[in-house]
Amino acid sequence: MRHAFTGLTVLTVVGLAALAWAQQAPAPRRYTMEELHRSGGVPRGWKFTLPAGDAAKGRGLFRELECYKCHAIKDGGFPPAGGDAKSAGPELTGMGANHPAEYFAESILAPNAVLVDGPGFVGPDGRSIMPGFADSLGVTQLVDLVAFLKSLTGAEGHAHGAAAMEGTAGDYVVRLAYAAPGAGHLMVFVSDATTGEPVPYLPVTVTLRGEGLKPRTVRLAPMVGAQGFHYGASVAVADETETATIAIGRTTMRVMPSAKGRFVRPVTIRLDWSP
Ligand code: HEC
Repeated sequence: MRHAFTGLTVLTVVGLAALAWAQQAPAPRRYTMEELHRSGGVPRGWKFTLPAGDAAKGRGLFRELECYKCHAIKDGGFPPAGGDAKSAGPELTGMGANHPAEYFAESILAPNAVLVDGPGFVGPDGRSIMPGFADSLGVTQLVDLVAFLKSLTGAEGHAHGAAAMEGTAGDYVVRLAYAAPGAGHLMVFVSDATTGEPVPYLPVTVTLRGEGLKPRTVRLAPMVGAQGFHYGASVAVADETETATIAIGRTTMRVMPSAKGRFVRPVTIRLDWSP
């Protein structure tokens, strides 16, 4: 009897979540079962997206479940965190912009999947001291809690530096990164705007400009490092640099008829330099 009731509750909750998801989801893509099986069981570039939730209800849950005991939120209106050795955890102030919703969901359901290092965060058994909430939270509760965490976008606190140098141009999402230690390494990550897959075999150059600087064009070569496949060059970039214009030429890959017209149009994109 109890099981039947729980089953019904879960169904209702999933139904509501599906409704919320339907309201914000992009237009559906259609596939045959054969196509799905051929591409590994999911559409290429598929990613699980959590439905939108109710941040105000999530705030209530954050209090009710006593998350605040281990996680401080500056000006969040919760009782102070910490207090004893069993309640350590990273401050969550302003962290909404730094992680996708699905990462928050995983942190709550499976705290050991990614272990964030910090004083007292990990117990002597090598596991997170955060309890997993997979057995105790309903789907709607999870979705609302995540909406609350995503709403924490205050500038101070848990910020990881400047905004990403990223933009979309033609078929591509282009991200620029610069690792300063040592000689300096410039990296451009180019991925397919539709599937998210990295796109190889492209000629890529970056032109750096800034007040009082002679524009400088650097040709990048395909390479792989700890950050994955990218187009890169070892260069020292001047502090005065203000913009980086990335030019992507026609791919040297053979483009099959089923991808006709893709990766062949040259594009340029200008990004503000903010490493
Ligand atoms: C007993 C202390 C404790 C409680 C209670 C607790 N957490 Fe945590 N939490 C931690 C610790 C420690 C970590 C860092 C280690 C890890 O990655 O699990 C963490 C990590 C996280 C992260 C990832 C943070 C990051 O910077 O990547 C999120 C999000 C989070 N917790 C949310 C919650 C929410 C929401 C609740 C309440 C439902 C909660 N926590 C309850 C201790 C706690």
